[in-house]
Amino acid sequence: MVNHHHNHHHHHHRKQDSGDLSSLLPIVSAADYCSYRKPTLLRFLVLFAVFSLSFLFVALCLFPSYSFLSDEPPPPLALHNHQGQDLPCSSMRNASLCCDRSARRTDVCFMRGPVRTHSPSNSLLLLIPTNSSSPSPSPSPQEERIRPYTRKWERSTMSTIDELRLLLTNETTAAAPCDVTHDVPAVVFSTGGYTGNVYHEFNDGILPLYITSHAFRRKVVFVILEYHDWWISKYEGILSQLSDRPPIDFANDKRTHCFPEAVVGLRIHDELAIDASRMPPNSNTTIRDFRRMLDEAYKPRIQDIVAEERKTGVDSPPQMAAGRPYKLVVVSRNGSRGIENEGALVRLAEEVGFAVEVLRPEKTTELAKIYRALNSSDAMVGVHGAAMTHLLFMRPGAVFVQVVPLGTEWAAESYYGGPAVKLGLEYVRYEILPRESSLYREYPEDDPVLRDPESVNAKGWEVTKRVYLDGQNVSLDLERFRKRLVRAHEYLVSKRWNSRKIF
Ligand SMILES: *[C@@H]1O[C@H](CO)[C@@H](O)[C@H](O)[C@H]1NC(C)=O
Ligand SMILES: *[C@@H]1O[C@H](CO)[C@@H](O)[C@H](O)[C@H]1NC(C)=O
Ligand SMILES: *[C@@H]1O[C@H](CO)[C@@H](O)[C@H](O)[C@H]1NC(C)=O
Ligand SMILES: *[C@@H]1O[C@H](CO)[C@@H](O)[C@H](O)[C@H]1NC(C)=O
Ligand SMILES: *[C@@H]1O[C@H](CO)[C@@H](O)[C@H](O)[C@H]1NC(C)=O
Ligand SMILES: *[C@@H]1O[C@H](CO)[C@@H](O)[C@H](O)[C@H]1NC(C)=O
Ligand SMILES: *[C@@H]1O[C@H](CO)[C@@H](O)[C@H](O)[C@H]1NC(C)=O
Repeated sequence: MVNHHHNHHHHHHRKQDSGDLSSLLPIVSAADYCSYRKPTLLRFLVLFAVFSLSFLFVALCLFPSYSFLSDEPPPPLALHNHQGQDLPCSSMRNASLCCDRSARRTDVCFMRGPVRTHSPSNSLLLLIPTNSSSPSPSPSPQEERIRPYTRKWERSTMSTIDELRLLLTNETTAAAPCDVTHDVPAVVFSTGGYTGNVYHEFNDGILPLYITSHAFRRKVVFVILEYHDWWISKYEGILSQLSDRPPIDFANDKRTHCFPEAVVGLRIHDELAIDASRMPPNSNTTIRDFRRMLDEAYKPRIQDIVAEERKTGVDSPPQMAAGRPYKLVVVSRNGSRGIENEGALVRLAEEVGFAVEVLRPEKTTELAKIYRALNSSDAMVGVHGAAMTHLLFMRPGAVFVQVVPLGTEWAAESYYGGPAVKLGLEYVRYEILPRESSLYREYPEDDPVLRDPESVNAKGWEVTKRVYLDGQNVSLDLERFRKRLVRAHEYLVSKRWNSRKIF
């Protein structure tokens, strides 16, 4: 499977907090985190992205009768017209096609008016009235092309994504009649690319899908390119929270599906994040709403698992042992970036007062089981890597300790540290010292690999991957690590104590 780090990410790490961190409060607050500087280019791009607000959401905000919080069904057309804004696609006419290509990470096209699929030609056809004679002032383009995947800036990845043709056509030339007529819009996207890596599945797929389809309140059909059965079963629970219709395998379903309109491509905000300011105003949707959705998605399956355990008398995962009211999950990696002294770490955590569960997520591990373990935990410890994506499963207020191996500081903060803070977790960054790395045994003490990872990362992604990502294990200095665990435990105790006082 393709790895998710990208060399350009590794050039920009600003060294901070080097040396022993034990004097620092281990609980990094949002304010602390904000002092972390994004690279200038990135900041520019973020700003740029903020300006490229979705037409859809802007339009919805200015359409007063639309309430996201009501139980009423959404209006038949989810793409509303709106005058006076010159944002991309903000003033689409009926029977027109518009692509917003202004964002750095993704393109999104809107097809307003009756849409038919034609999978043999990889096309979606937008039917325009046969004799709409009035020459419009700004005619819609006749054809657009789009690869509906959220890593637009990665040329090589995008070249593996099917390209869709979006065509305007008149009724007389529209090839096939409808085989299946849907009364709700289509959202069209690809589950190709890096799908297979759990970080990418959430970051590039599930979260963008949530962002894009949230406004339809389940009245939407997902039309999927590079469709995988395993992906559908893995994310079944979530998909059924987002859409109340079965998804369509675009390439293999040769029938003509007809929709009142379609959104092709997904919106994306940031790494594992939802930017509430770019969600429909009044919807007040944040990453915490996403998490609530996850809770609903996994609830039925978890209830089944619990019932099954009761019936068979199997012991549930560690319940709170007497005197150890706080649960800590160690997310264990298999292969590189493992914790060599994991057994000792578990004993240490128990000694500090945690009930410990060691979780070894594998490709086939049911997400509901991982959700169950983390949703019931107060703290999680893991080494930087895709499995940290499961921080999305932790309850806000829980503690997330990320062990940061040499050379992975930038990625660790960008992909997981930042998102954890946004989710409301208490984030503890544990940057290992050179002597805690297995690389310490392989390189002389003054080697740049140990002393200056940034310079090594500057040589390119292949080097980073070989040296730091695939070639490194961690042996925690337990004296040093103990301080973090103690602080985390104290934090949890004081939090519970404070909430007792309040209520
Ligand atoms: C767009 O089409 C819908 C339904 O086909 C119609 O109700 C609406 O009036 C049309 N709007 C414009 C501006 O033509
Ligand atoms: C419909 O499309 C065909 C082919 O593009 C074109 O020849 C024909 O003139 C169109 N009909 C109308 C009424 O625009
Ligand atoms: C097309 O034109 C015919 C006759 O000119 C008219 O009866 C029909 O309603 C028109 N259709 C549309 C969609 O405007
Ligand atoms: C959004 O929701 C949060 C709680 O979920 C609430 O505290 C906040 O006031 C809401 N903001 C708006 C603008 O409605
Ligand atoms: C997650 O934990 C919360 C709080 O303990 C609980 O109310 C909720 O039911 C749990 N969710 C699931 C799906 O088990
Ligand atoms: C790694 O995973 C493989 C298969 O998933 C398993 O056989 C092996 O024991 C695991 N190794 C460790 C160290 O957990
Ligand atoms: C890291 O540990 C794993 C076993 O968990 C081992 O297979 C691998 O060779 C080790 N890598 C290094 C660089 O020590």
